Amino acid sequence: MNNVITIALSKGRIFKETLPLLEAAGITPKDDPETSRKLILDTNHDDVKLVIIRATDVPTYVQYGAADLGVAGKDVLMEHGGEGLYELVDLNIARCKLMTAGLNDYQPGEGRLRVATKFVNVARQYFAEQGKQVEVIKLYGSMELGPIVGLSDLIVDVVDTGNTLKANGLKPIDHIADVSSRLVVNRASLKTKHDRIQTIVDQMSKAVKHD
Ligand code: ATP
Ligand code: PRP
Repeated sequence: MNNVITIALSKGRIFKETLPLLEAAGITPKDDPETSRKLILDTNHDDVKLVIIRATDVPTYVQYGAADLGVAGKDVLMEHGGEGLYELVDLNIARCKLMTAGLNDYQPGEGRLRVATKFVNVARQYFAEQGKQVEVIKLYGSMELGPIVGLSDLIVDVVDTGNTLKANGLKPIDHIADVSSRLVVNRASLKTKHDRIQTIVDQMSKAVKHD
């Protein structure tokens, strides 16, 4: 796929919110990932393909050059660490916050806390910076359940409206980072396919909605 520009995206909110930005760069997918079973989507350009993968896998594909470009949440990029890729544009989409949360009656106390999260690296770093001793428990989803069933004292997860926390008797506690999705590029691709990538990046940047 050497002459092809490959863009890694996850389905759901990132795909939906990236579509208008791709359109601004003249790129129209030929299939809808919500209905198609295809993992590689053709576009109106023979030399531009979209690979549809899990949100957490986007930085990995871009790091190894399996995709030239990708769209990933800052949460996912922080967890990945950013090796092998450049974060080029804040697309200002899929906005939320990375936060700690606990049960409504949670009171900070002494001693080692247990923290359940899929963001284990982010959690370790955050609590280390706070000088707090924690045991981090890796989960792959439904983090809100952790404190309810006594698996953990706290969770680290993304929060938007706060409705998911509320519905589960949890409260947001500390703000770790503001999150939005970023356009990332493989470092080698930026050199070898510079002009084509730069054109896409410029056109997508111009279409970003600022508030
Ligand atoms: P995976 O499939 O890898 O588990 P996911 O299910 O978290 O990922 P999405 O729910 O599509 O994937 O989220 C993609 C990105 O959108 C997240 O990485 C985050 O940056 C952002 N996001 C997640 N939840 C919300 C939300 N409720 N509101 C706004 N943005 C969100
Ligand atoms: C995400 C995330 C939280 C929730 C936060 O879940 O894992 O559980 O959104 O959003 P809120 O603060 O607005 O409730 P997911 O993407 O599974 O659900 P969603 O489609 O409802 O956002």
